[in-house]
Amino acid sequence: MKTIIEPFKIKSVEPIYFTTKEERINILQQAFYNPFLIKAHNVIIDLLTDSGTSAMSSEQWAGIMRGDESYAGSDSFFRFEEAVYSITNMKYIIPTHQGRASEKILFSILGGKGKYFISNTLFDTTRANIEFSGAEGIDLLCDEGKQPSLIAPFKGNINTEALKKTIEEKGAENIPLVIITITNNSGGGQPVSMQNIKEAKAICTHYNIPLFIDACRFSENCYFIKQREKGYENKNIQEIANELFSYADGCTMSAKKDAFANIGGFLAMNNEALAQQCRNLLIITEGFPTYGGLAGRDLEAIAIGLKEIMDENYLKYRIRSIEYIGEKLDAAGVPYIKPTGGHAIYLDAKNFLPHITAEQYPGQALCCELFIEGGVRGVEIGTVMFGKYDADGKTIPAPMELVRLAIPRRVYTQSHIDYVAEVIIEVFKRREKIKGLQITFETPLLRHFTAQFKQLN
Ligand code: F0G
Repeated sequence: MKTIIEPFKIKSVEPIYFTTKEERINILQQAFYNPFLIKAHNVIIDLLTDSGTSAMSSEQWAGIMRGDESYAGSDSFFRFEEAVYSITNMKYIIPTHQGRASEKILFSILGGKGKYFISNTLFDTTRANIEFSGAEGIDLLCDEGKQPSLIAPFKGNINTEALKKTIEEKGAENIPLVIITITNNSGGGQPVSMQNIKEAKAICTHYNIPLFIDACRFSENCYFIKQREKGYENKNIQEIANELFSYADGCTMSAKKDAFANIGGFLAMNNEALAQQCRNLLIITEGFPTYGGLAGRDLEAIAIGLKEIMDENYLKYRIRSIEYIGEKLDAAGVPYIKPTGGHAIYLDAKNFLPHITAEQYPGQALCCELFIEGGVRGVEIGTVMFGKYDADGKTIPAPMELVRLAIPRRVYTQSHIDYVAEVIIEVFKRREKIKGLQITFETPLLRHFTAQFKQLN
């Protein structure tokens, strides 16, 4: 088999600025051991997120010039609407400036005290918007998904038995919707099977609860379905997506992921009354329903990106480039979530740094070391992001301690990825000397963005 190559040529480049290890130690100290507080200029390979960091295509840039900036009824909106419709077949399509704006609108309307939203795993902004409304979010990930080293095809699935039980327990009338995240970002970028979505839909229908999809990485999820689920081998990605969305009553989307856009998102649904309420809120928070917080040119970039993202040559390269890091880590014995997921590699910090307890944030400590070693920036997905305190102020740890290295779309080449693997392996070799951290400043919601730390001795 020949090497799977990047299915693009590079027309425009951005410089990378290099730093020394001594400089990085200093930079990290000044950023209070929080990679979110490091200036991007000081990062060599930035794997903080795959969100809004894609390289746009020449077609998308051409679309940007074509953007129709009319306040109402712009041509760009209709091209955007057509692109979203061709994937979701949903009746009401509402543009927003990014995923969390969709969430804010949806959960402000449906949330509130006494309500529960059930998911395979809620992403942090989704959970925060649910909790901000006064409601509660419940994650019901399947058992396979909780075992980092277990190889299984669909570790993002929702536990359907637990779903039934939880609906019975909480009362269907208190559950405005069930939302399934594809791929399951916080659980390792693992896909959800079509079968699982079908089963979840059947349960939701039985209890008369709408099913929504958090569709940020829908195309990567559909590619995994094509690769791993029987009956989909010969379908194209759009056909798989059409079937998947046919089981849903609505979706939220961040176009900063599987639409190759630097900004944007949408809400789509089939319920007219709900769509009307969403649009009312959209007008006071985002903008008029044909642009919703975006410029016409952004709508063009999304419309084109949504088509490009379903190209199987792209998806093959995309999924392969993540798998490739996994193979290098396997050879060195580095623990990570297996199999590799769609958009990122998730280092298993609990097993990487077994001497650091959850109260001392092993994921955050590992992030810091990757930066010091090679200027690689990742993000902790563990107790810093999802930990809570009990009534006595004791830490309730997150179920997993992970470091996510998210790969921006169409941005880095194979040698960048080789370099990242080398950096991880270097840190792994000196893992026993790595120290834990203590929080010195934090905010009540989404603390990981701004928290400050100090190193423990
Ligand atoms: N849902 C999922 C599954 C996400 O991964 C994100 C964003 C959102 C919703 C919110 O979208 O950023 O456009 O407001 N995830 C980014 C990340 C930030 O790094 O994984 P947004």
